[in-house]
Amino acid sequence: MLEQLTGHEDPHPIYERLRAHGPLTTDNGMWITTSHTIANKVLRDRRFGVRLADGSSPANGSLLPDSFLELDPPDHTRLRRLAMPAFSPKKIDEYRARVEKVADALLDRDEFDLIADFAAPLPISVISDLLGIPDSDTAEFADYGALVAASFDSGVTPEMANAHDKVLALFDRLIAQRRRTPGDDVISSLVAAEAEQKLTAQEMVGTLVLLLVAGFETTVNLIGNATRALLDHPAQWKLFKANPELAPAVVEETLRWAPPVQLTSRIAHEDVDRIAKDEWITVLIGAANRDPEVYPEAHKFDVMRVHKPEHLAFSSGIHYCLGATLARMEGDVALRALARRMPDLRQTGPIEFRDSVVIRGMRSMPVSRS
Ligand code: HEM
Repeated sequence: MLEQLTGHEDPHPIYERLRAHGPLTTDNGMWITTSHTIANKVLRDRRFGVRLADGSSPANGSLLPDSFLELDPPDHTRLRRLAMPAFSPKKIDEYRARVEKVADALLDRDEFDLIADFAAPLPISVISDLLGIPDSDTAEFADYGALVAASFDSGVTPEMANAHDKVLALFDRLIAQRRRTPGDDVISSLVAAEAEQKLTAQEMVGTLVLLLVAGFETTVNLIGNATRALLDHPAQWKLFKANPELAPAVVEETLRWAPPVQLTSRIAHEDVDRIAKDEWITVLIGAANRDPEVYPEAHKFDVMRVHKPEHLAFSSGIHYCLGATLARMEGDVALRALARRMPDLRQTGPIEFRDSVVIRGMRSMPVSRS
C-alpha cells in the first residue's frame, strides 16, 4: 500500500487505511506500524538496528552507507560523539543572531517563491557555514543534497552517483585545506579527530555528507510546511502574529502534524514477538504523529496543543535527530521573521509538492508580501 503514496499530496487517507489493520500490520512483506507507542518502543529498543543482525549493510542502495545514521553501536556511538559538540544547545544559541541576519536579508523582497527564495536558502546557508563550506561551493553542495534526498525514494541513479563522486572530491579538497589551515568549523574538528585516529578518512566524509544533507533537506520542509499550515489556518496565523512567542509552539505542532521525514525503518537483530530476526519494520512517523490514542483530535492543526508525549518527527532512541535544536531554532527564527516582516503574506499561485514518500514538503509556493 505504501507505494501508492508516491505523488500523493495527502498521505493520511492511506495511513488511516493501514491503521485500520491494527497498530502493527504487514504490507509487501514488511512490518509497518502506525502506532505512536509501538513506533517509540521500536526506535528505543536495542534489539532493533539499522544493519542486519550480522552487522552487514542491507543492500538498499544508499548514498550514505558510511554515515552514523546507517550504523549500529559501537560505531554509531563513536562517530555521533565526534559530531555532537557542534550541535549542542549552547553552540546553537550562540549561533542564533547569525541566522536572524540571514532570514532578514532573505525577506527583502515582495513577490517570491517561499521555498526557493526563503525556506531553502536559510538552512543551506546555516549548515554550509557550520560545516565550513565556502559560499562559492554552496550551490553545488545544495544541488547534490537534493539528489541524495531523492535517492531515499528511488534508489541511486547514475546521475546521483555522479554528483556523489563530485561532492566527495569537493569535501576532499576542503579537508586537505583544513589539514593545512584549521578553522573554527566542523570539517576542522573532524580533521583533528582523524589525526587522533578517532575516525577514518572515509568515516569523516560519510559524517560530513550526512550533516550536509540532514542539515537542509529536512529544515526547508519544516519552514515550508509551517508557513503553509499557518496560511491555511488564518485564525492560528492571526494568533501567532499577535503572539510571536508562540513560534516554538508553531514549530512543534508543524513537526507533529506535517513532519518533514514521514518514515524510517529498523531491522530486528533477533526475534521480537511476531517480528523475526532480520525482518524490517517501517515506522510511519507521519501516522504515529496523528495517532488518536495519543493525541486528541489528532488531525487538527492546533498550535495551542500540549505535546505529551513528544511527537516522533525527530525519531527517538539513539538515532534521535542530532540537529533537532538547530532545526527548532531555524524554524523559530524563520517564522518570527515572516510574521514580523510579512503579516499580509499570501499565496499567489499553485503549490508544487515534492514527489517523495519519505520527505514531505513543497517544491514551490509562490507568495507575495501583500
Ligand atoms: C526539521 C528538520 C529536521 C527533521 C524533521 C529531522 C529528522 C530526523 C530524523 C527523523 C532522524 C532519525 C532517522 C532515524 O531514526 O532513522 C534524524 C537524524 C539525524 N539528523 Fe535530523 N532532522 C532535521 C534537521 C536536522 C538538522 C538541521 C541537522 C543538522 C545537521 C540534522 C542532523 C541529523 C543527523 C546527524 C542525524 C543522524 C542521527 C543518528 O543517526 O544518530 N537534522 N533527523
